[in-house]
Amino acid sequence: MVQKIRWGILGCGNIANKFAADLKWVDDAELVAVASRSQQKAMDLATKYGVRHAFDSYEALVTCPDVDVVYVATPHGLHHEHVLLCVNHKKAVLCEKAFALNAHLAKEMIQAAKKNQVFIMEAFWTKFLPQYQKIVSLIRSGEIGDVKMIQADFGFKAVAPLNKRLYEPALGGGALLDIGIYPVFLAISLLGKPSEIVASMKPFPSGVDQQIAIILKFESGVLANLSATFEAVTPVEATIAGTEGYIRMTNRFHNAVGNVALIKNAEHIDIGAIHREVGYGYQFEARHVGECLRKDLLESPIMSHADTMLLMETLDSIRVACGIRYPVDEMK
Ligand SMILES: NC(=O)c1ccc[n+]([C@@H]2O[C@H](COP(=O)([O-])OP(=O)(O)OC[C@H]3O[C@@H](n4cnc5c(N)ncnc54)[C@H](OP(=O)(O)O)[C@@H]3O)[C@@H](O)[C@H]2O)c1
Repeated sequence: MVQKIRWGILGCGNIANKFAADLKWVDDAELVAVASRSQQKAMDLATKYGVRHAFDSYEALVTCPDVDVVYVATPHGLHHEHVLLCVNHKKAVLCEKAFALNAHLAKEMIQAAKKNQVFIMEAFWTKFLPQYQKIVSLIRSGEIGDVKMIQADFGFKAVAPLNKRLYEPALGGGALLDIGIYPVFLAISLLGKPSEIVASMKPFPSGVDQQIAIILKFESGVLANLSATFEAVTPVEATIAGTEGYIRMTNRFHNAVGNVALIKNAEHIDIGAIHREVGYGYQFEARHVGECLRKDLLESPIMSHADTMLLMETLDSIRVACGIRYPVDEMK
């Protein structure tokens, strides 16, 4: 019998718990190890999901011979350190978004994975969701004509006491890297590199953005109007407007239960929620990672290293445009 892909999880916080739950829906996956700075947290997660190893250090995870691939689920400000720890121990990596705090660090992480001949991919789960693939196919087949405008927002009212990772610069705090990354991803994954960027933000007392508004302009003249906020409840919707009609992504456009509608010639075609599976939706990216590992790939053909670099470089440019700085930016 072929051995399943053996997963380890580094950091036992919020998203780690959801990802662990979704691995159940991946036939070719087994969660064999979890690691936390706290033995108790590791034990709790391991007990909940019947995991063999519960480590009280990240080092123990990356030296465990039973682990094929590590899901890095720590705050983005720590991804660089934790990814290097994994790849330098020859572990393949699926690293949460935002991949790094800046493009310079992202490049180092990718180079280190290449040097160690291990697979690495940013966990941009939206790209693997059926409704994202549906909108790409609608656009490519010309259903809305030529795309001219994109609008997308992502906002929620962060309740006190705030998780430190939302506002602490060293951890990669700020709305842009945490949630603004989704509208930015949507626009650039459909349109490529922007030629002009305008952005404005309102900072937390710590200096990073509490809310942000962004306009991206593309060579073709297409404009994207994007926003993110920790201060207000927003619909978390996207509209992709073309010369023949438009696509509406509602019910939180970035996630697995998002709804898609195509509006053409005053006709509203509700395509509905495309996700027909149980779970949060992280199983789609996990399945893809397993397929890549089975093929001995070092890079995903869907969320490539170039895709991650374009996203990171765009986020860097947006930050320059509105004055969001991280301590590591100075060290380049
Ligand atoms: N794809 C998605 O839908 C999605 C959703 C939410 C978050 N995320 C991403 O996932 C990452 C983690 O987010 P989260 O919501 O899971 O955060 P979280 O609940 O705060 O968990 C982060 C974990 O990182 C570990 N950690 C190690 N050093 C830390 C430090 N100095 N300060 C704080 N935590 C530290 C902790 O695990 P131990 O104590 O166990 O070591 C902590 O529980 C972020 O990059 C975020 O953008 C993605």
